[in-house]
Amino acid sequence: MEVPRIYLDHNATTPVRGDVVEIMAEVLREVFGNPSSVHAEGEAARRLIDDARQSASGLLGVDSREILFTGGATEANNTALWGVLSQRENAPGHIVTSRVEHPSVEAPLVALSRAGWRVTRVPVNPEGRVDAEEMLSAIEPGTALVSLIWANNETGTLQPVAEVAAGVRDRGILMHTDATQALGKVNVSLEGVPVDLLSASAHKFGGPKGVGMLVHRGEVAFDPILRGGPQEKGRRGGTENVAGITGLGVACTLAVKELDVRVKEYERLRDRLWEGIRSTIPKVRRNGSSNHVLPNTLNVEFENTAGEVLVQTLDLEGVSVSAGAACASGSIDPSPTLVAMGRTPEQARGSVRMSVGHGIDDGAIDRVLEILPRLVHRVRGAETR
Ligand SMILES: Cc1ncc(COP(=O)(O)O)c(C=O)c1O
Repeated sequence: MEVPRIYLDHNATTPVRGDVVEIMAEVLREVFGNPSSVHAEGEAARRLIDDARQSASGLLGVDSREILFTGGATEANNTALWGVLSQRENAPGHIVTSRVEHPSVEAPLVALSRAGWRVTRVPVNPEGRVDAEEMLSAIEPGTALVSLIWANNETGTLQPVAEVAAGVRDRGILMHTDATQALGKVNVSLEGVPVDLLSASAHKFGGPKGVGMLVHRGEVAFDPILRGGPQEKGRRGGTENVAGITGLGVACTLAVKELDVRVKEYERLRDRLWEGIRSTIPKVRRNGSSNHVLPNTLNVEFENTAGEVLVQTLDLEGVSVSAGAACASGSIDPSPTLVAMGRTPEQARGSVRMSVGHGIDDGAIDRVLEILPRLVHRVRGAETR
């Protein structure tokens, strides 16, 4: 009998939830109209997009008019940074960010610095957290924007976004957060949190790939990255991904409904995994924060172990985990996030990320705990030979 695979890589992407698949299939089959068309078919498609916007606004605690659908979080981050800043008066100016941002924030910042913007990257402590005060004290008279990731994709460490946003408020400085890893895993309501721009992606919480959103509140002006159409009130040209946006909406509704249960369940499974690893495998260390952390994420450093070999070995045994961020896999450069936390390149290389989610149960965790000590022992043996 074939043993079912155990997917412990929910931070890379999540399986699409059954409800999402069903509604998307129905939309693809039945609702083919162009949302810009004035006839009944167009109207039906437009209504689906409006409904999805309502669901997303419910999850995020913002006005639905403040939500722009995008082709994922990479596009949302590029729009929030390049789209907003490249057309600012008094440009180029100054940006404050952290040393543990996702490449889809870091790369537009590099492009902006080529255009003359100055970027201050605030260091993090050994748990991977910035100090809110330190971040605020990096603000200068020319600072236009502060960008701080809500939860890190590799370690799950949560940043003090609300605290930094409160300090930025009323200073004419925009606050952006990449909340891609946080949605559906922790509460990300912006009610009472003065964040101006927030990026997210459906595939990280049970939705489809290639669709995401940018929340832009108040009067944030930006140049569209995609020009050439009236869609999304002229803020993003191109016929909308109606099925994808509908899927995102359903994923948001599920996240609202299930959040409390998910948090408890993910945390319980993640802690069971860590306790098992810690008590059976010598020379292991948990990277990141133990109290400011996503409930589903465990980043473990196995001393004297090639993380990428352990990932492959586990894969052959039917277990999916990742070494470093998914976007960086294929390369064995040490993770910049772990290096920013003070790990040596060698230590960073021994780190493996395990992220639980929908479909993982006690049996799956126990199976991993059953095979992992032997595999780590084998990989370590090969390394020291
Ligand atoms: C924190 C973070 N930001 C942005 C992204 C990019 O998201 P997308 O795949 O939707 O472009 C990811 C995906 O890995 C992520 O983890």
